[in-house]
Amino acid sequence: MREVLVHPFPQKVEGEIRAPRDKSLSHRAAMVGALSQGVTVIDGFSFCADCLSTLASLGLWGVEIIKEEEKERITVKSEGLGKLKESEDVIDAGNSGTTMRILAGIATGIEGLTIFTGDDSLRRRPMKRIMEPLRLTGVDVGGRNKDSFPPFFVRGKNRVKAFSYSLPVPSAQVKSALIFAALRGEGVSFIEEPLLSRDHTENLLRYSGVKIERKGNVIEVEPPSSISASYLSLPGDLSSASFLIALATLLPQSHILIKDVGMNPTRSGFLACLREMGGNFKIIGEKEEFGERRGDIEVESSSLRGIKIEKDLVPLVIDEIPVIAVLAAKAKGTTIISGAEELRVKETDRLKAIAQGLRKLGVEVEEMKDGLLIQGPCVFQGGRVDSYGDHRIAMSLVIAGIVGEEDLIVEDIDCVRISYPEFFEDLGKIGYGEWEIRER
Ligand code: S3P
Repeated sequence: MREVLVHPFPQKVEGEIRAPRDKSLSHRAAMVGALSQGVTVIDGFSFCADCLSTLASLGLWGVEIIKEEEKERITVKSEGLGKLKESEDVIDAGNSGTTMRILAGIATGIEGLTIFTGDDSLRRRPMKRIMEPLRLTGVDVGGRNKDSFPPFFVRGKNRVKAFSYSLPVPSAQVKSALIFAALRGEGVSFIEEPLLSRDHTENLLRYSGVKIERKGNVIEVEPPSSISASYLSLPGDLSSASFLIALATLLPQSHILIKDVGMNPTRSGFLACLREMGGNFKIIGEKEEFGERRGDIEVESSSLRGIKIEKDLVPLVIDEIPVIAVLAAKAKGTTIISGAEELRVKETDRLKAIAQGLRKLGVEVEEMKDGLLIQGPCVFQGGRVDSYGDHRIAMSLVIAGIVGEEDLIVEDIDCVRISYPEFFEDLGKIGYGEWEIRER
């Protein structure tokens, strides 16, 4: 297992950088490509480990995928909707909840058996939330521990029943699984979400010609007879960029420009929080392309104040809460995050992991059932902290180490490849290279 030694950086970060590619959109674009008839070319694809799990899985269903990593491009060749073939092997989603949950939705429309498994972390994550609603399509679904965890199976059919379902918990993964399942429905399906969550699936499918309408919180999906292949170019990942934005905010006199970042309003809660904290940034050249908003972000350092983040905002900032916790520990006053119990069932229990990490740095943090209470501003001490093998915890703690006063070791660091393989390289591009990765 490798760890990283992070030396504090008493200087500024600066310069221009292209945003890391978007994991969430890359998964979905590859899936839409697999369900489209013909050749789909996708530019700006993320070659992170999670998206590679999706590509390998689609390959097992007979989809041909050509990867050109240096061009950030994949080409997907498929016979499309209704033509994917039963896999001869178990689908291993690795660490990726998005791969497992959304592909389970697609599996309902593939004639035959699909068995899903994943790594140690994924096999502990809740899957009843996906198995229960997918049964409404009339297909047989079942899993370990009374349908609670992977491995689980889906015995799909070429056409499934149309359905109506109201999600008890906001989850873009579950919503997306149901939207993909609805594409093989025998009529229109209705999916209701309690709070708005990221709508990339809706946008990409709509862009590809599928009739999807939102009426209030209800999404109506009309199954198409086929989807035609097209060209897609994806924007960068605001969730990954949030680590660079946080660093430039916290290191005095910093000034960076991050090019081509996804600005989808259902994903950009981080920017709303940062703005409220007093963050100093500008969005430049915002436009919509391929169904998604994108633009550049110019960030300058600033002093921050504590804020309140409540339930309604949580789905829009779900993956950025660990790095917001780091910002909050440097902000003046109290930050209260509530309604965020979903963080306990991510790659690790993120509320516990970030609270523990920050406490070791000397921060006053209270862990609540559904959130965190953080008292700032704090000067970070050094020492040794554990990422728990969770990519977003690892990168949040690295940022804390850079803006700290003493050397910090972040254990179990290889997990950054899950969403942002170029993380350390990108830190170098904006001027920070004071880290050493080593075997423990
Ligand atoms: C994701 C949705 C979120 C998020 C995850 C990616 C997606 O999960 O935490 O990292 O791409 O749909 P939930 O939908 O389970 O909240």
